Amino acid sequence: MIEIVDLGKHYQLKSLFGKAGTVKALDGVSFKLEKGRALGIVGESGCGKSTLAKTLLGLEKRTFGDILIDGKSIDELKPQDRHKTIQMVFQDPYSSLNPRKKCWQLIAEPLLINTKLKTNEIREKVDSVMALVGLRPEHAERYPHMMSGGQRQRIGIARALVLDPKVLILDEPVSALDVSIQAQVLNLLIKLQDELKLTYLFISHDLSVVNHLCDQIAVMYLGKVVEMGPRKQIFEEAVHPYTKALLTSCPSLDPKTQHTPLKGELPSPLNPPEGCAFHKRCPIAVDQCHKTRPELKKVHGRFTACHEVH
Ligand SMILES: Nc1ncnc2c1ncn2[C@@H]1O[C@H](COP(=O)(O)OP(=O)(O)OP(=O)(O)O)[C@@H](O)[C@H]1O
Ligand SMILES: [Mg+2]
Repeated sequence: MIEIVDLGKHYQLKSLFGKAGTVKALDGVSFKLEKGRALGIVGESGCGKSTLAKTLLGLEKRTFGDILIDGKSIDELKPQDRHKTIQMVFQDPYSSLNPRKKCWQLIAEPLLINTKLKTNEIREKVDSVMALVGLRPEHAERYPHMMSGGQRQRIGIARALVLDPKVLILDEPVSALDVSIQAQVLNLLIKLQDELKLTYLFISHDLSVVNHLCDQIAVMYLGKVVEMGPRKQIFEEAVHPYTKALLTSCPSLDPKTQHTPLKGELPSPLNPPEGCAFHKRCPIAVDQCHKTRPELKKVHGRFTACHEVH
């Protein structure tokens, strides 16, 4: 369905004193997203998850690489067709919705911009999508501030679905919500994926959320994928030391195994370490890790980039 080939996004920075630097926010990521599947993207804050989402959506221009949809480069799609293929649900339903618009206007907006539907057809479509995401007819005339966080996120999901896209990118869709509401929204997303045969790219720093929803997992570190494979392989038999360390931060997932917790901080993406970007924090780093960057290779049924995993 969607194939990402060596995708990169570098930001050129200029400081007041003229010193420039390059932030390699996304640095050569490749994967395939199959129809009807859910791929989870995890990794620490700043590792490039949202950059990946924005680049896929076309909100940021990619620096290199390609995005293929059904085998065709995304550049060949008209912006309108792109919007009808991929849509995004944002993290914060408080700031991503225009407070001056009513619920039904917010959901109708993508239709007004991207289609030539008549007013009554728009109204009909909005009503059906509202019902689909569990908003009641009386919510239609309300402004976002009159609604709860969970209801607002349902508006965000309805806006994303109103053009009948095939792929949804969900960037931390529940992390701004109350824990009690998170489960409701996650269950709604599971139901929608099943009913509409949607493909999900699900971004989250919360491993238990990803475990709940995704069948494939990609772990990112400083703009690169370090381990990627089926959910069970990643959660139960992680091989990359970074994935193992991430799992320790989520003991509820894996109470049996004792991995070493993560030490130190994420290095600056402006000056990433040479060799393997993780070597300074890695409990099993050897000489080679300081010098050469490991390539992603297939080991034990998943892909991983580590010199010490064979
Ligand atoms: N417009 C920009 N200009 C320069 N650097 C940027 C820009 N946007 C993002 N970055 C940098 O790119 C890197 C990746 O950022 P990104 O927002 O993708 O991280 P993230 O994984 O989504 O983090 P979080 O979990 O906190 O949302 C960070 O170092 C960030 O500072
Ligand atoms: Mg982010």
